[in-house]
Amino acid sequence: MSTETRTSSSTDGESPIKPTDLRGILKYVPMFRGQTFIISVDGSVVAHEGFRNLLMDLAVFRSLNIRVVLVHGVGQQIRSLGEKRGVPILDAYGSGPTNEEVLQLAIESSGDVSTRILSQFTELGVSCAIPNAIRATERGIIRGEDFLFTGKVEKVDAPVLEDLLSAGITPLVSPVAANRSGQILRVNSDAIAAEIAAELKASKLIFLTSHPGLPVNGQSLLNVPAEDLRRTMADNPSAIPAELLSKVESSLSALAKGTPRAHILDGRIFGALLTEVFDKVGLGTMIHSNEYDQIRPARPSDLHSLYNLIRNAASSDAVRERSFESIQESLSDFFLYEIDGSLVACAALIPYPKENVAEVGSVFVQPFYQGRGVGLKMIHYAEREAFAKGFDKLFALSTQTFSFFREVCHFSEATLEDLPQARQEILLHSGRRSKILMKDLKSSGTPS
Ligand SMILES: CC(C)(COP(=O)(O)OP(=O)(O)OC[C@H]1O[C@@H](n2cnc3c(N)ncnc32)[C@H](O)[C@@H]1OP(=O)(O)O)[C@@H](O)C(=O)NCCC(=O)NCCS
Repeated sequence: MSTETRTSSSTDGESPIKPTDLRGILKYVPMFRGQTFIISVDGSVVAHEGFRNLLMDLAVFRSLNIRVVLVHGVGQQIRSLGEKRGVPILDAYGSGPTNEEVLQLAIESSGDVSTRILSQFTELGVSCAIPNAIRATERGIIRGEDFLFTGKVEKVDAPVLEDLLSAGITPLVSPVAANRSGQILRVNSDAIAAEIAAELKASKLIFLTSHPGLPVNGQSLLNVPAEDLRRTMADNPSAIPAELLSKVESSLSALAKGTPRAHILDGRIFGALLTEVFDKVGLGTMIHSNEYDQIRPARPSDLHSLYNLIRNAASSDAVRERSFESIQESLSDFFLYEIDGSLVACAALIPYPKENVAEVGSVFVQPFYQGRGVGLKMIHYAEREAFAKGFDKLFALSTQTFSFFREVCHFSEATLEDLPQARQEILLHSGRRSKILMKDLKSSGTPS
């Protein structure tokens, strides 16, 4: 996965998104429709003068049918209230111990911030509600230290959040929550957002901070695989700025529970959120799950989209036409590549057990995603699966992508006689005159 050094971002009100690039944006709109984004916004971003613009971006999401849960922090508000009242704040991020005085500041700040967001949402015509969807429990004593009124998430009331979202209402969640007996505890807002993302099977968890993305060892990253970040956290946590550690931990925890993407970006930049989501390059740092995690076997619920995808592909003669029934019958052969819940590519691994070979067929990548490495990953996946199932060889029949299989995937040209008898007959009767490509899995090894 490539990483890039980012140029420094500004907070001077200049929009990094090109509003005229509507076509680019519109491509993404159907992909995200009906999906859930969990947005965690730091207290410092709420306090910034551009916060109203950010709420307008959330209103845009709503109008595009993207479901948003907004979780807010209060770090900056607690610090400034503490300064005013002479209360020392040792930890403003909600991860360390919270004494009674700091808890009072957290409750007060939380009320202030929630009311402010509520009033601005009302002004923008966005319905919003503050549910008691989080039940907390004490963090307790950790390595001899009593964390007092610091809590962690015990339970997310997903049905309450789902009901609000279905009714078109944006749930607003505060970083204070009651435990079973009603005692209020202070909970880290990043951790709350990650738990909600996992419970609601969100497609994105987005952290809006006062940092231009996530630097690792001082180098800003555009994309980072979760696996790399997990290794950095284990081997060299000081490579990550201390104030972003809880965001990285929460991102990794949400990704481990199935959220495909987490983003960290500067929420003070005008249009930052829209740019991150709708621009191909983005603006902050995207943490994504292992690339093979995006490939999975097809399920019965995929049948209609899979049929439509293959029908489209067959219309340009790129793949063989398949009836709905034939796809249904062989559904277990298919595997899919998904991005944010949308079907991006498909392929099938068809076994010929008698000859101990397998075919990779119906390979198709949606045109918008072609040329981004998806096709190659699908073929590598097929090779790994075929190898793991003990097949000696993998073959493909191609009318238009001969050089892709030969030059890129390192298949060799083969003859009709190399195919299983049953497949020879189908090919001869099809009249497609496909070229035959074969790969010896035993001698070539498989991609890791
Ligand atoms: C062919 C196809 C599966 C490739 O998938 P993709 O996601 O676009 O390809 P990738 O991005 O993984 O490409 C990896 C490399 O292969 C090259 N490549 C892609 N398609 C190619 C083609 N048709 N011929 C030659 N090289 C090709 C890319 O340029 C890239 O090279 P690089 O690493 O040097 O940049 C996809 O383009 C597709 O679905 N095409 C239409 C359907 C089709 O023909 N299916 C095959 C039926 S058997």
